[in-house]
Amino acid sequence: MSKENGNSDSAFVRLENLTKSFGAQEILRGVDLEIRKGETLVMIGSSGGGKSVVLKHITGLIKPDKGRVLLNGRDIASLNKEDLATARQRIGLLFQNGALFDSMSVGQNVAFPLRESNQGPTDQLTDKVIEALELVNLAPHIDKMPVDLSGGMRKRVALARAMITRPELMLYDEPTAGLDPVATGIIDQLILQMQKQYSVTSIVVTHDMQSADRIADRIAFLHEGRVYFCGTPTELRNSSDPLLVNFISGHSVPPP
Ligand SMILES: Nc1ncnc2c1ncn2[C@@H]1O[C@H](COP(=O)(O)OP(=O)(O)O)[C@@H](O)[C@H]1O
Ligand SMILES: [Mg+2]
Repeated sequence: MSKENGNSDSAFVRLENLTKSFGAQEILRGVDLEIRKGETLVMIGSSGGGKSVVLKHITGLIKPDKGRVLLNGRDIASLNKEDLATARQRIGLLFQNGALFDSMSVGQNVAFPLRESNQGPTDQLTDKVIEALELVNLAPHIDKMPVDLSGGMRKRVALARAMITRPELMLYDEPTAGLDPVATGIIDQLILQMQKQYSVTSIVVTHDMQSADRIADRIAFLHEGRVYFCGTPTELRNSSDPLLVNFISGHSVPPP
């Protein structure tokens, strides 16, 4: 089976000619992208370029003007309400402003998606919550309130909450924005661990090239509403395309 083959079975998410305007503003101008089962694909590009809009299309939150989103080979526009809900349950979201509920403890926050979908009796629920918190090394903090945690810890709680339903696909929108380098490193490690431990397929939007290098199997560069480049971190680094060189140098931590 050729990886170049557009119908490759390993494509978990396929975006075909995704086109979207808001009013007169043309944001996506034909995005073609394939995300393979089990890979971590990092999406980079200028701020305001439509990266979050791409993620929202994948969740079905936004409908394209033209083009298609295929999950496991099925066009999400063709799914009925029930099937779309089921497909959505397999997607975990870690959105930038996907804040925790401040009035709920860490444990209650993490339990929330399970309560929503009424999964299992309460004691089993507690086991799952502890397991999810262990994953992000926060089990001892189960009874704390979000306000008493650092920014990095809050992100980890949000990650535990996103992972508790064991999604097949994780969408991360700038998961390390605003975090210091140490907290960023921890989140990057967790993203890698989710991939290894649960074979989760991930799409990560970031503007941190160091993070991208650490976690990406492939990097897609969104530019003027299209995927301008998609390749491995090494291919990106080795490119002499001025646009890519310029972007990378502007988004990397300068050497000390
Ligand atoms: N629901 C919406 N309605 C109108 N405009 C939107 C909406 N969502 C995004 N946009 C606009 O689309 C552009 C791309 O946004 P976004 O995807 O958030 O960029 P990025 O994530 O790459 O920084 C922005 O100009 C934004 O204002
Ligand atoms: Mg964004």
